[in-house]
Amino acid sequence: MPTNRGERGHYEYKSRLSDWDSRAGVRAGVRRLLEEETAEKVYFSPALDPIIRHPLLVRLGKEAERSLLIYHLYSYLEFTASFEIEVVNRGAQRIAFGKSGLDLPSEMLFDAYKIYCDEAYHSLYSIDLKVQIEAATGIKPLPYNFGDFLRRFNKAREAVPPNLRPLSGLLFVIVFETLISSTLNKIPKDEQVVLAVRKMIADHANDEARHHAFFSSFMDVLWPQLSKRQKSILGPILPHFIIKALEPDYEAIKRRLKMYDLRPEEIDQIMAESYPWPEVIDGLRKTAGATLQLFRRNGLFEDPQTLEEFQKSGLII
Ligand SMILES: [Fe+2]
Ligand SMILES: [Fe+2]
Repeated sequence: MPTNRGERGHYEYKSRLSDWDSRAGVRAGVRRLLEEETAEKVYFSPALDPIIRHPLLVRLGKEAERSLLIYHLYSYLEFTASFEIEVVNRGAQRIAFGKSGLDLPSEMLFDAYKIYCDEAYHSLYSIDLKVQIEAATGIKPLPYNFGDFLRRFNKAREAVPPNLRPLSGLLFVIVFETLISSTLNKIPKDEQVVLAVRKMIADHANDEARHHAFFSSFMDVLWPQLSKRQKSILGPILPHFIIKALEPDYEAIKRRLKMYDLRPEEIDQIMAESYPWPEVIDGLRKTAGATLQLFRRNGLFEDPQTLEEFQKSGLII
């Protein structure tokens, strides 16, 4: 169980956003501009894109590798731009306006307001960088459809009754905001990547470390306020939320591959060999380590059905 409860069981919230005015990117950061010579650099870490190493793509040469990494970055930026506004900020807004249906410390409501501003800015600078890269490289982004992602997320919660849907939306935000994504973690340190991309992702990671602390506290406040029945409905959908939040966007990757001189069966082969499920779920388990720990300390795995769903998913072994 969470330990930071006062004598009368009231949650003692410790804000990580009290110095927001001097530390948040939107208050103290600078606009990142693409200014260096980029011929030697790549736009996304090859180590984070398994298809790059596939022999059928290596055969296509360096130019194909370079453009594939640009397409990967575009997808990441477009996803971020939409996700921040259409998912995280819907939750942040409900919390900030006291409409979460939960009893929360007032400081938490104000912190959610700050997060709302952060996420809007993350969305803005994601698009800013995408536009700059398109202008510098001449490579046009492929059509991106965030609706496909929302459909997959809604499918993961189709068993949730309508009265619990808003709560399931907040849980999805908690999941996403407490995952430690390898993109945020590794790209800032990867010297092969162009500096503006590394700096922008480092800016984002700085803000997200504070959001991580907020949403961990938010989970600690939210979960004990649910009834046993609500917990037994919502707990078992959480492994599916983690998987939907993190698994590769297979359809978008296939659309990218269709831009190259590859036969349909070669594309299928690249996909199957680059994303074997045991490797994918291994990676997801690591990325979700802090989230799983947060769930454990809130007693989620004491519910047999929740535990069973997590074990079946492969997120707990
Ligand atoms: Fe963000
Ligand atoms: Fe965030």
